[in-house]
Amino acid sequence: MKQIAIVYFSRNGSTRQAASFLAERTGGQLVELETEKRTGFLRSGYQAKKKKAAALKGDPWESVRESGVLVLGTPVWAANGTPAMNSFIKGADLTGKRVYLFTVQADPETRSAGTIHSYFKELILDAGGQPAGTLALHGAPPGKTAPAGAFDRLLEAWEIC
Ligand SMILES: Cc1cc2nc3c(=O)[nH]c(=O)nc-3n(C[C@H](O)[C@H](O)[C@H](O)COP(=O)(O)O)c2cc1C
Repeated sequence: MKQIAIVYFSRNGSTRQAASFLAERTGGQLVELETEKRTGFLRSGYQAKKKKAAALKGDPWESVRESGVLVLGTPVWAANGTPAMNSFIKGADLTGKRVYLFTVQADPETRSAGTIHSYFKELILDAGGQPAGTLALHGAPPGKTAPAGAFDRLLEAWEIC
């Protein structure tokens, strides 16, 4: 039984990089969210702004059923989280789970992260989970991937579990 699961969505690899680092550090299980459809840049931004949900492949909820601690990772799209992460949290039963959240974005000042974290905190509470901590990371411009090791120092210092 896996104690910790790191559930993430990543389009260009930066969030995946952070999630993989956390998986190595915590021994947690990686669960990648994949959408049924890949939307273009403008549509993706529009759907994120409208806080839409996107159909996910497979059953990521089953993968985390036994996990007591979840770390959720999502890029920032149009000053919001991603439709993939909206779907995951809205479809989840997080009862009894401690839930950490990190966001990855192009803006080095990580503007809008606070608002996004507050929004997800409400969704996590609605799903029965216990919000446990948040972290805002500076990733890369749209379409680019952050250089290897870009997040290590901040993730090392993040008090999780
Ligand atoms: C549709 C779209 C909208 C975006 N909107 C924002 C934004 O509002 N603010 C920001 O800082 N970065 C924004 N970005 C940049 C991503 O957050 C950034 O490239 C991040 O590193 C992507 O993570 P990933 O490589 O895991 O997909 C946007 C990227 C995309 C594709």
